Amino acid sequence: MIKADVVIGLQYGDEGKGKITHDLCREGSYTHVLRFNGGCNAGHTIFHNGTKFVTHHIPSGVFFGIKSIIGSGCVIDPIRLQEEIETIEAGGVDVKSYLLIAKNAHIIRSSHKEEDSQDTAIGTTKRGNGPAYRDKYNRTGLTAEQASEMSNYSWMKPYLVDVYEELHTRDNTYVLCEGAQGFGIDIDWGDYPYVTSSHCTTAGALLNAIPPQAINRVWGVAKAYETYVGAKDFQGDDPLLEDLQRIGQEFGATTGRKRQTNWINLDFLAKSCKINGV
Ligand code: IMP
Ligand code: MG
Repeated sequence: MIKADVVIGLQYGDEGKGKITHDLCREGSYTHVLRFNGGCNAGHTIFHNGTKFVTHHIPSGVFFGIKSIIGSGCVIDPIRLQEEIETIEAGGVDVKSYLLIAKNAHIIRSSHKEEDSQDTAIGTTKRGNGPAYRDKYNRTGLTAEQASEMSNYSWMKPYLVDVYEELHTRDNTYVLCEGAQGFGIDIDWGDYPYVTSSHCTTAGALLNAIPPQAINRVWGVAKAYETYVGAKDFQGDDPLLEDLQRIGQEFGATTGRKRQTNWINLDFLAKSCKINGV
């Protein structure tokens, strides 16, 4: 039997999914935590035993000794992932014993990062996400399994798993699906083209060998005001919003960019809850 809970962002990312996922891992009885979309464009800020960590690819399960899968819906920058593993381990957390990588996740190559570094239209995180997903769907991408045959990336081999086998061939699997980004920048439901290139919705979790009837709870995470980072004009007119940005320390966890701030939009939140089954 497989059971799953899902954590998703209801706004534009940076709602605090990292904090909520960390709390759920501490309290829940999960056998696995699975990051189901995105790559190192994400930045989940977590305070663990008083120490601040920012995760980019690595699911929050590692902080509690729970098997943590970078799922098939993700794209991975192996160089940054290696750095991330070392940084978290240096903080006293055993990552290597619990990290698993979906064989069919895709790889962000240096050419993807170079291309993305030229972006000005969308205001991307310049981490190579869009080009990596484009190549995946163009069927010219590189999977983690293929990459692990290359000498630079052979270190990934011991971490590779078939997500189907990992989740479906044992008894009582309980998976916490950790989403990245948010509904407002989802590829299908966001304000296109000011979106990311992955599926940030509950539907995105299902793409990682999670059957729909396995879903137990969907936790939607929202802030009391909205923030967005990117090229479109989002900042509200009210000067109080500048204070909110400053007091809330609204700077991107990945790029350090100032987050544009606006009041909460309850109509948007209601739509987001309905579509995601929160
Ligand atoms: P990309 O995902 O790097 O291609 O960026 C596309 C858009 O999504 C830009 O507006 C980014 O600022 C935004 N974005 C991507 N990842 C995150 C995130 O984790 N939090 C908030 N915004 C993000
Ligand atoms: Mg973030």
